[in-house]
Amino acid sequence: MDSFYVTTPIYYANSLPHLGHLYTMIVADTIARHKRQQGVETFFLTGTDEHGINIERAAMKEGRTPQEQADYVVSYYKKMTAEFALDTEHGGYDIFMRTTEPFHYQGVSEFWRRVAIATTPKGNPAIYKGHYEGWFCAPCAEYKTEDEYLKARNPDDPPTCLIHETPLDRVSEDSYFFRLSDFDEALLELYQSRPDFVRPESRRNEVASFVRGGLQDLSVSRLKTSVSWGIPVPDDPDHTMYVWFDALINYVTALGFGNEDRAGAAGFQKFWPALHLVGKDILRFHAVYWPAFLMAAGVELPRAIVAHGMWLDPNGRKMSKTIGNTIELDVLNRYFSIDAVRYFCLREMVFGQDGRFGYEGLIDRANSDLASGLGNLSSRTLTMIGRYCNGRIPAGRIAEDKFLLAKRSGVDTDDNAIASFVEHARNEFLLHLSGFAFSRALEVGWSVIARLDKMITEAKPWDLAKDENQSQTLNAILYRSAEALRWLCVLLHPVMPVATAEIYSQLGLSSDALRTGNPSSLSWGGLTEGTQIGEVKPVFPRLDKKKIMDEISKANDSSGAHATAAEAVPGATATSETQPPPPLTGATEADAVPGVSTFIEIGDFAKVDLRVGQVLTAERVPKSDKLLLMSIDIGEEKPRQVLAGIAEYYEADQMVGRKVVVVANLKPRKLRGYESQGMVVAASIGPEGRPVIATFTEEAPNGARLK
Ligand code: MSP
Repeated sequence: MDSFYVTTPIYYANSLPHLGHLYTMIVADTIARHKRQQGVETFFLTGTDEHGINIERAAMKEGRTPQEQADYVVSYYKKMTAEFALDTEHGGYDIFMRTTEPFHYQGVSEFWRRVAIATTPKGNPAIYKGHYEGWFCAPCAEYKTEDEYLKARNPDDPPTCLIHETPLDRVSEDSYFFRLSDFDEALLELYQSRPDFVRPESRRNEVASFVRGGLQDLSVSRLKTSVSWGIPVPDDPDHTMYVWFDALINYVTALGFGNEDRAGAAGFQKFWPALHLVGKDILRFHAVYWPAFLMAAGVELPRAIVAHGMWLDPNGRKMSKTIGNTIELDVLNRYFSIDAVRYFCLREMVFGQDGRFGYEGLIDRANSDLASGLGNLSSRTLTMIGRYCNGRIPAGRIAEDKFLLAKRSGVDTDDNAIASFVEHARNEFLLHLSGFAFSRALEVGWSVIARLDKMITEAKPWDLAKDENQSQTLNAILYRSAEALRWLCVLLHPVMPVATAEIYSQLGLSSDALRTGNPSSLSWGGLTEGTQIGEVKPVFPRLDKKKIMDEISKANDSSGAHATAAEAVPGATATSETQPPPPLTGATEADAVPGVSTFIEIGDFAKVDLRVGQVLTAERVPKSDKLLLMSIDIGEEKPRQVLAGIAEYYEADQMVGRKVVVVANLKPRKLRGYESQGMVVAASIGPEGRPVIATFTEEAPNGARLK
């Protein structure tokens, strides 16, 4: 049996979990569930990083021992993983790794010993003893070079960390060094020979240019007298290992490296190498230091390092308790289903880039994509099967003598069209998922929902039900819809395990099968005629946006400083884990937010007159594949005539009645003999620039101005 190993970072045990931590776990959990569906034996690791000066300090402030501090934070992590169904009991992680486990000490010591006797690719000892003189940021757990800190005005004061804005510690002591500088060529060769080693590509380029810029040797120990909370250096107990050295090695000790005889170990040989999921903030540690350590220890390199972006607030600012724009896990838990949160995280963030997270956005997506989208498709399909077919899955075929009747009501007599649409979508969905393009994959899933909605709306089953002669046509429509719903459940199960299991059992199927239902082996027609459906219940209840938002803001007001559980923990500085990370050499803000390279003044933006419009009529422009000719009401006396290059993607009928955004003060121009008196705004997706029309999820009157 194939095996697969996926990891999240292990999180610092100085502060309580927040949305960022939850996010990486959701991504890893989705990948793990998807692999399990494919019959691959999968091991999923998450956990906590419990050593180092930062945890020592956090504990001291609270009057706890470092171990008590770690236990306290771990109890919150365990609570979070249980609440969000990410723990073993709910089919989530296989190990919650803790670096204070004795078996980890054993494995790390073995790893150190191997590196201590190794030579670098340039033939020098990989570890040597020297003297470290420099600045260290405790919250980053990182030594800082001159370009990574801000010098104080007063030369007697320490510089401050650019990320945390807190003073750095002066370190001047004997230390063991890892000869990282000798690994530059080996690392560059690695990135070149294995282009998929660091993903996405833009991050690989950043890492490569960081290495090309020259590597400095890394101090990998502290004197025990300065940092005692850590793993002792083997055979030299006056030194404690650098926390990142100890932490990275968790990925192998968890499986059994250096502690092979541990009862219950998953097996290093069986599962290594891993796919490491990390935020871009810690890419350097994983894509530069970690492979170099492994090369020195003679251990196989990871499968890949996959870096995601950071969650920002809806205005694109970093989340911070001072601003009061953090996303609270207990609020998420109180108002939203686990699946809605998972869906939003994966749909909203274009993987690899930064994303914006706000409660309003989450409510809007939950209502439009889940309640009105998947939920509505499921309940209308099942309700009609209940009403028109006595609650049994009907036959899907239309006999030849009924073809004419079916055609008359606009129904395709052959279900091949819908079957091949769904099959094609399945293949695309899987392709995107394997490339970590979760958002694209979900878009494809929702194109199936749109297609089915259209099929139902056009066929009008409620009218077909009135005509006995049309019973086969009615059955075929309902069968197609239910069968496609079955496919959607299998595809979406790793993303929304709870809701898909619910829909699956409403379809009359055993939800256990979803966990191992391989989406690649789905074949059209698998839903058996006559299956008794289950009780039909709404899967995604509509969320009352106003009520929820009022309650959230009231709670924030009454708690004064917008308190979060994390504030209870010392050392959880307001910015400690929510700041955008320091860019690696070559990374720019424009890189994180694609297409944004320069800023404009508000006055520049105000020059564009954007209006809410509604499409009144739409038709294809003769002899043009691309152009639709529309009349759009933007609240003026007469509708505007607007041409849009969207005909390859939108049917004319589909546009009628739609709310759109129109650029109203664009100079009119002629295309194919028609004057276009404005422009419809759309997102441009993928290399082929597929348009996705901008619209509104709430009522917006025609002519209203967008500001
Ligand atoms: N302990 C180290 C990791 C050691 S791994 C061998 C560490 N811990 S951390 O608690 O700071 O967690 C960092 C990780 O949390 C990020 O890489 C990312 O996975 C997640 N996130 C923290 N804040 C985040 C956002 N605002 N947005 C998305 N993910 C974020 O670094």
